[in-house]
Amino acid sequence: MLFHVVLFGLFSTYVHADDCKLNNVLFNGNYDFFDLAHEFDKHTIYWPNVTAFDFTKKIGISGENNTWYAANEFEAGEHGGTHMDAPYHFYKPGKFVGELPLESLIVPLIIVDISSRVNGDPNFVLYKQHLDYMLNNNDGKPCMIIFKFGWSQFYTDRKKYLGVNERDGTLNFPGLSQEIAEWITTSYKNVVGVGVDVASLDPGSSTVFPVHQQLMAAGLFGMENVKLDTHVPEYGCTGIALPMKIAKGTGGPLRLVAICPKQTPTKF
Ligand SMILES: *[C@@H]1O[C@H](CO)[C@@H](O)[C@H](O)[C@H]1NC(C)=O
Ligand SMILES: *[C@@H]1O[C@H](CO)[C@@H](O)[C@H](O)[C@H]1NC(C)=O
Ligand SMILES: [Zn+2]
Repeated sequence: MLFHVVLFGLFSTYVHADDCKLNNVLFNGNYDFFDLAHEFDKHTIYWPNVTAFDFTKKIGISGENNTWYAANEFEAGEHGGTHMDAPYHFYKPGKFVGELPLESLIVPLIIVDISSRVNGDPNFVLYKQHLDYMLNNNDGKPCMIIFKFGWSQFYTDRKKYLGVNERDGTLNFPGLSQEIAEWITTSYKNVVGVGVDVASLDPGSSTVFPVHQQLMAAGLFGMENVKLDTHVPEYGCTGIALPMKIAKGTGGPLRLVAICPKQTPTKF
């Protein structure tokens, strides 16, 4: 009898522990995986005057017995396509991209969808008054926030996406206000990074980049040109933001992924 109780106890403990293993949770079919990064190729969008993704097909050799060997080279600016801005980008004492700890790169992801308010307006700037609800603060635990302006649909058209004014070369696309950046860094100290589906955290017309300065001085990282062309649940997802680990980088190419429960929870 005692033997059975002990055995049953062991067995139930084992099953429970196994259910909770991350590997089992990931592959039990209850989660969707979203790729929030644009591809790197000749169409990848870079800021004017930055080396665009320069991809050189280097070697491609067919050998005996159907063997194949291929390898390429690429050159590119740090800040283009879907990429991360390290705090050092706008704050000299800040961390390089290669120094950012995994603890802040793999955290709950909150998406703030303001695309219907933006409604395709390249001069839209987000202020607190536009948010008709308080941002979810994730109960004070670390999280990343991505603002969806609805701009990914224009990504294949560089001129439209950046809002290039052909007369004076200025850029015109929506972005965050300094007010929002201050609000995040003072009221939401648990936010570790902020992303946007446009080319910059600051609006395209900005020349002094106060949003970058405010967020990065507070130690936050940025994510730009996030690919948000399908519906991703606003709450309940885990963000995995892994930039290329450039040791002294001010930023770098970013493979951003969201893992989301198929059944959106009402709270965390
Ligand atoms: C790019 O370079 C040109 C020529 O040096 C300059 O006039 C222009 O302002 C630069 N554009 C940006 C966005 O830095
Ligand atoms: C190709 O296959 C043949 C037969 O297995 C073998 O003798 C030969 O060494 C192979 N060649 C190379 C380059 O591996
Ligand atoms: Zn950047």
